[in-house]
Amino acid sequence: MEFTVELTDAQSRVIIEKGCHTRLKDYMDFDGRVMVVTDDNIPDSLKETVLGQFDGAVLAEVPQGEKAKSLEIYSHLLAVLLENGFSRKDWIIALGGGVVGDLAGFVASTYKRGCRFVSIPTSTLAQIDSSIGGKVAINMNGIKNCVGSFYHPHTVFVDTDTLKTLEQRHFYNGLVEAVKAGCICDEQLFDLFKEHAAELDADSPYLEEIITRSLLIKRDVVQQDEKEQHLRKILNFGHTVGHAIESLYNLRDYYHGECVANGMLMIEENGQIKSDLISIFTKMHIPFITDIDTEKCIEFIKNDKKAGGGTIDIVKVDRIGEAYIEKIEIEEMRRYFGS
Ligand SMILES: NC(=O)c1ccc[n+]([C@@H]2O[C@H](COP(=O)([O-])OP(=O)(O)OC[C@H]3O[C@@H](n4cnc5c(N)ncnc54)[C@H](O)[C@@H]3O)[C@@H](O)[C@H]2O)c1
Ligand SMILES: [Zn+2]
Repeated sequence: MEFTVELTDAQSRVIIEKGCHTRLKDYMDFDGRVMVVTDDNIPDSLKETVLGQFDGAVLAEVPQGEKAKSLEIYSHLLAVLLENGFSRKDWIIALGGGVVGDLAGFVASTYKRGCRFVSIPTSTLAQIDSSIGGKVAINMNGIKNCVGSFYHPHTVFVDTDTLKTLEQRHFYNGLVEAVKAGCICDEQLFDLFKEHAAELDADSPYLEEIITRSLLIKRDVVQQDEKEQHLRKILNFGHTVGHAIESLYNLRDYYHGECVANGMLMIEENGQIKSDLISIFTKMHIPFITDIDTEKCIEFIKNDKKAGGGTIDIVKVDRIGEAYIEKIEIEEMRRYFGS
């Protein structure tokens, strides 16, 4: 299956097919040189499979985890490109999770004012969410994604075979974004989780459908609101509180999807939806975070980039498949924390 994301100044092609990462040249012509950006925890077999398809490809390996989205590593990657004489017609391939995608995408967006960029997402989070939409960024001074741009990949290769080696906790963490997509736009997707959450793994017959449905939702929303002026905010269901919880635990103890899952639960006011979410997240082994410091979270929310003038836009879901944005006073957020 494949589709395109149509944007004002660009187009991304998204290929969702088992085995596609093993035969990249069957899908497109890579004229020019290739640098593969990956992290030091991605299995060697994946790296070899991708590198083996290009003569003279340059491998740039960064440390695994959020710390790789730094100015230092960003400038190191630019230096590697310069030392190897890359031009803006050459290719950067991101092979890894959301960290590698955000970092390599930001490098691609700025090197010689933009060189060609392909993504091979290898985590559920990256396959379901971060690989499309064009948000690329690094962190600075402990603030997530505060230096970045919008830059869309030429092609995204989504191959669920690459997920076989992903740790179970990361596997479920990324799937939270698909549960979110179901909540805001797609009841059938939500039903897939209600029925099959307990049996999902890389070999699940439902996985490709879950990923495809999630990506199509994101595609439709992003096409209508590329730069997050309004509609795109619905993708942030659970994220306002989720980001605050992430910051509370120093972006370390809990993963992004786990924090978003807890954020969805805190914001959700419909009893039936909430109990369905609890049941789904229990089956996905998502930790329920109970020791949340309300005051610190409210402070984080106040500092959040989406908060302006004492109010904040939050995403509400009263019926599965339908989301809306509500502007509220930040102080009103307290009621979601039970205080
Ligand atoms: N650009 C966007 O729209 C967007 C959206 C959501 C999140 N993000 C960003 O994504 C990042 C999180 O992404 P993530 O959860 O994929 O984290 P990640 O990239 O750190 O990957 C998680 C871990 O899984 C490992 N891994 C990845 N693929 C693997 C595989 N196939 N086999 C074995 N191990 C594998 C990685 O080495 C890493 O240790 C954050 O930086 C977040 O800000 C971006
Ligand atoms: Zn998210």
